[in-house]
Amino acid sequence: MCLMVNERKFLGIVQRKNSWNDIYNLKNFIWGLQQSKAAELALNYIKGNLKLIDLGCGYGRDIIFFRKRQKNMIIDGIDSSKRAVELYHNNLNHQIRINIRFTDILKLDKTIKEDYDIVFSNYLFNLFTYVECRFIFQKIKKLLPYDGLLISSFVSIKDRHYGKGKKLNENLYEIFKGIPCLFFEKKMIEELVSEVDFKIIDILHYSETEFVLGKPNQVEAYLLVAKK
Ligand SMILES: C[S@@+](CC[C@H](N)C(=O)[O-])C[C@H]1O[C@@H](n2cnc3c(N)ncnc32)[C@H](O)[C@@H]1O
Repeated sequence: MCLMVNERKFLGIVQRKNSWNDIYNLKNFIWGLQQSKAAELALNYIKGNLKLIDLGCGYGRDIIFFRKRQKNMIIDGIDSSKRAVELYHNNLNHQIRINIRFTDILKLDKTIKEDYDIVFSNYLFNLFTYVECRFIFQKIKKLLPYDGLLISSFVSIKDRHYGKGKKLNENLYEIFKGIPCLFFEKKMIEELVSEVDFKIIDILHYSETEFVLGKPNQVEAYLLVAKK
C-alpha cells in the first residue's frame, strides 16, 4: 500500500478524498439507471445461479440488472464512495440477495474473504495506475475459486479522451482533477491476466454510448473475460 501511495506522489496525483462523492453529488444517478454494455455482454458468459461481486459498483445499476436477469444469483458490490452506496440504500434497496458495501478495493483483504464464482467490474481499472491494477488483480485471484470468472471492462486508447488532460505516465492522464485515468491497450490487459495465471476466454473491443448527466458520451472499451 505504502509503495503505491509513494507512486501516486511520484506521479503528481493529488488524490482528493471525496472526489467520487462530489461526482455523485452532481446528479444522483449520473449514468442513469440503465445497465452498462459490459453488464449486457457479461450475461453471455454467466450461466446458472452463481455468486457475483461487482467491484466499484457505484449505486448498483449493473447489480440491479443482473438481479432482474438471474433471479437466484447472490450479488455483492463494493464501492469506496459513501455517497454511491447511500444512493443505492436510500433509493434502490428493494432487492433481495444483494449486498452493497462501502469498501476500498485496495483494502479488500481486511473486509471480504468469500469465494465468488464471478468478479465483475465496469470501468474501474481506469481509475488506477498500472502498478495498482496489478495489485488489484492479485486480490481478485484470492476472491475466485479454480474456474471462477473475471469479467471486466477497460476504457481503451481508442477512446476520444485518450491524450487529453495532463500526462502523468504512459497512457495515464489526469482529465478530472485528482482522478487518474489509465487507457488500456490490449497487451496491457493480457499482461495483467498472465501475471495472475488466468486463462483468457475473450478480449472484445466494443463501443457504447453512455449517458453522463443526461448527455450522450461514446466510450471505446475492451471487455475481458478470463478464467482462473
Ligand atoms: C466509473 S465509476 C463506475 C461505477 C459503476 N461500475 C457503473 O458502471 O455504474 C467507478 C466507480 O469506482 C469507484 N471507486 C473508485 N476508487 C475505488 C476504490 N479504491 N475502491 C472501490 N471503488 C472505487 C467510484 O466510487 C465509482 O463509483
